[in-house]
Amino acid sequence: MTVPCRPLLPLAAMLALAMAGTGACAHAHAEVAAAAQVRGAPLIPRPASIRPAPGRFLVDAGTAVRAEGAAAAEVARQFAGLLGDTTPIRLAAPLDGDEASAAGIVFRLDANAGEASPEAYSLDIGPRRILVRAGDARGLFYGAMSLWQLLAGQQAAAVWLPAMRIEDAPRFGWRGLMLDSARHFQSVEQIKSLLDAMAVHKLNTFHWHLTDDQGWRIQIERYPKLTQIGGCRIPAGEAGTGADGTLHPYCGHYTREQIREVVAHAAARHITVVPEIDVPGHAQAAVAAYPEHGVVDGPTEPSHNWGVNPYLFNPREETVRFLEDILEEVIELFPGPYVHIGGDEAVKYQWQASPQVQALIGELGLKDEEALQSHVLKRLEAFLEARGRKLIGWDEIIEGGLPPQATVMSWRGIEGGIEAATRGHDVVMVPGDTLYLDFLQTDLPDEPPGRPKFTSMQKIYAFDPVPGVLTPAQRAHVLGVQANVWTEHMRTFERVQHNVFPRLSALAEIAWTAPARKDYGDFLARLPAQLQRYRALGIPYAQTALAVALQRRDDRATGTVTAALSNPLGYLDIRYTTDGSAPTAQSAAYTAPLTLEVPTELKAAAFFDGRPLADRPSAWPLDGASLLTRTDKTLAPCPRGGRLLLRLEDDNPPEGPRASFDVTIFHPCWQWQGAQLDGIAAVKVRAGRIPYNFGLLREEESTRGYRAPVAAHGEFEARAGCDGPVLASVPLPEHPGADGFVELEAPLRAAPDGRTDLCLTFSGDTRPQMWVLDRVTLQPGR
Ligand code: ACM
Repeated sequence: MTVPCRPLLPLAAMLALAMAGTGACAHAHAEVAAAAQVRGAPLIPRPASIRPAPGRFLVDAGTAVRAEGAAAAEVARQFAGLLGDTTPIRLAAPLDGDEASAAGIVFRLDANAGEASPEAYSLDIGPRRILVRAGDARGLFYGAMSLWQLLAGQQAAAVWLPAMRIEDAPRFGWRGLMLDSARHFQSVEQIKSLLDAMAVHKLNTFHWHLTDDQGWRIQIERYPKLTQIGGCRIPAGEAGTGADGTLHPYCGHYTREQIREVVAHAAARHITVVPEIDVPGHAQAAVAAYPEHGVVDGPTEPSHNWGVNPYLFNPREETVRFLEDILEEVIELFPGPYVHIGGDEAVKYQWQASPQVQALIGELGLKDEEALQSHVLKRLEAFLEARGRKLIGWDEIIEGGLPPQATVMSWRGIEGGIEAATRGHDVVMVPGDTLYLDFLQTDLPDEPPGRPKFTSMQKIYAFDPVPGVLTPAQRAHVLGVQANVWTEHMRTFERVQHNVFPRLSALAEIAWTAPARKDYGDFLARLPAQLQRYRALGIPYAQTALAVALQRRDDRATGTVTAALSNPLGYLDIRYTTDGSAPTAQSAAYTAPLTLEVPTELKAAAFFDGRPLADRPSAWPLDGASLLTRTDKTLAPCPRGGRLLLRLEDDNPPEGPRASFDVTIFHPCWQWQGAQLDGIAAVKVRAGRIPYNFGLLREEESTRGYRAPVAAHGEFEARAGCDGPVLASVPLPEHPGADGFVELEAPLRAAPDGRTDLCLTFSGDTRPQMWVLDRVTLQPGR
């Protein structure tokens, strides 16, 4: 059979020896690949070593899979199953035994393998057979994942693999991902799909944030109200209370059976689940269920406010025993060594205000509330230690005295981790400004809600979890690294997936690959193959990361837009068109900012090895109207807006897509830098109104600012500079229209010459709601 030849592209070819048969052309391609492609084997995370070897191996339905012993056979089955799910290659059930003479793919557990780590493996691809070998089932599984990576995403039922030898072992033993199931809830099937994805990234620790102010998500048999009451909240605004007053609770919890199912699914993929029960703060849902274990009298309810809420567990003996009862059941469900007890953001106002708690501090002879927190956590640590478990907590557990054996999860930067390691405690690095995946991954306007101070792939990739200041002995305390998915702004699982992928690839590499083998350029060259795998796995990864970003400078006087184009990940081959057609690899290459006359329809796409990276090109209709219009996402936050910039979504409609708004919540203000106001008669605004639902405690009181309103319900104002004169102003209505928006026109009182930094605000305090700018348009005079 003759197989049609397609031209081989340098890196796209990588291992793309996928051929419908074994014809002459396939062989010719294999030769090329064997010589040239092995060094580019696009594995993520990058293995410790890959050495090319002579020859090639054909994987197709006739390839035998062999394994000796139950553990190796299980890995072989998982490999064949995953391959069958993601490629057209259907392998027969594994054969028992792996005699040295046998051909095929052999999975061998070899107690004498002698690798340093139980997660180490070797993968030998030779002309007659592929040998995956490890001293432990974990390593064998990772060898299988590497082999799967080499084959996944292929469209053909027969694939040539160039011969090579891979030797590999992870840098860290803790390679984690945290999922917050409290703020928003994910189904068991969704969590399993995340675990599946973790496994192919060679991640091994799933930290499950199961309790918080907004929801208690784990069934505790002895205290059923934790989920009955603590498992439901009434969301803020119209999402929770309809126009007719009907309540729409947001509920969810995992039964014991479901938790066992998740734990077993994880274990089958060599992932340990670390449950988190947050103590003594982030306790509002639990206190709503059992007010007697809170500090403040009277009922409360699970919070619908994001941020930091004041409810704490009571530190008295009865409540410590209540927490121990809970941990007893948690331990039954989660066999892993660690239990996470939170410890973060427990602002002590309630303890400070409570005479009973103050008396307890006196009775125990403690210095202050921090020492009291430490006292409670030490009790819980002793409880866990007595049952063979280890306590891990957020870095606040250092304050007031670390429990003696505690492991510290350093989230407020790396400093807590440095301090803990210096004191001989184990550490997991999760610095929020680098590894919190609720920060948007690009600064594109079409990122879903989250925290707009974005965390790029590059920033994650550049992070080294081991601080240089540590001595070698202290470095040994850095167990590893983890990314955290906080879900306040991730109402749907698709948003979780968008935020996690492809950034999880960078996390995997910093967690697994030795620093000397890290190379961002090389990573970018391997990422397209990873995206192919994501497609094969059905993972809807973020297209924004692969799109083209536009930075524009408009000039109304000349009717031009100067457009600077870039790809957020740093891919350099950007092609563009201005005739409405979709860019191809042959379109004009972008090399420097373009000055374009309006109207021009600009389209651009980033390419790698001649193929577009995103599913669709980026497109901007650069017309006359676009020179006069900005949105909340293309305006800058005002300099005095404060640090809390959020991309928040509307509270309506109940289902389906909702509008989102960039807003600095303490001082909502948007700035049009360099606005050209000559010839402008009015400033038109389209504004929405969304819940203001944040637990911000005293930070809010000291930081928040609104201008005093003049009209009954405040006004929309445009100023020349944020402290400058009002240029335009229009009263706001009491309520937005039925669609949730208002459109208002503010006549321009005066137009300064030249360019003006226009500050746009709403006066008045409308809490628990706030006006948010959706779009602003400069209206020329007639
Ligand atoms: C945290 O982000 N509060 C650990």
